[in-house]
Amino acid sequence: MDKDVTAKPVTAATLMRAKRDGHKMIWLTAYDASSARLAEAAGVDVLLVGDSLGNTCLGFDSTIPVTLDDMIHHTAAVVRGHRRAWVVCDLPFGSYQKSPEQAFESSVRVLQATACDAVKLEGGEHMAATIRFLAERGIAVVAHIGLTPQSVKKFGGYGKRGKSDSERGQLLRDAAAVEEAGAVAVVLENMPHDLAAEIGRTSAIPTVGIGAGPDCDAQVLVWHDLLGISESNPPFAPAYADVRQMMSDAITRWGEDVRDGRFPG
Ligand code: KIV
Repeated sequence: MDKDVTAKPVTAATLMRAKRDGHKMIWLTAYDASSARLAEAAGVDVLLVGDSLGNTCLGFDSTIPVTLDDMIHHTAAVVRGHRRAWVVCDLPFGSYQKSPEQAFESSVRVLQATACDAVKLEGGEHMAATIRFLAERGIAVVAHIGLTPQSVKKFGGYGKRGKSDSERGQLLRDAAAVEEAGAVAVVLENMPHDLAAEIGRTSAIPTVGIGAGPDCDAQVLVWHDLLGISESNPPFAPAYADVRQMMSDAITRWGEDVRDGRFPG
């Protein structure tokens, strides 16, 4: 059932108001126009064109091979499919880490080629200068701390972050630094729930949790995990449907109908 798609467009100010009012915002990844339309009609507030695109759609085993051109191609499709949601595009690995200027050039390409609303980048304290550089030039930036999949080779896996006292301290500093630098929201991925809650209490910008517990201002999931299309889900991302099975059943039945002469009828 379509939810209020005639409602006002979601903006960065909407996200801040929602935090102030204790109203949970719904974020979901999307990679094409039809899923954008569907998610929005089901009440999703923010469409994140995540670089999880690499794993979910492009057949890679990490986000590292995803390029800026890939992100632009899919973000433009999501923007074409959407009406009111806020659309965020992930800056992929290698497109922003070199310098604030490189991040600015990549962001300008994304914003001009897709007309999306914001860019997201991974990193905390060490990316604060870059976030500030973008924010001061009028770009809405979402930060992403905790488990940062683009650093999988450095960390050696996708495990929980913030379990030790020193990692916990670092994540608190990361959250404070990205807020102070001008990020409009911060994604908290795979970290202890009490740590995410503490960040949420001390932070003026909305926290967006994925594997970070119930006390975040918003929640985000990956489309393929939520719908049960992924071959396996992370432990913190339950599937709400078995769409993989449904698709497989439909294709199998149609194939049988073709082979047995029932289709076309
Ligand atoms: O790439 C992505 O889908 C993400 C979410 C998991 C937050 O960054």
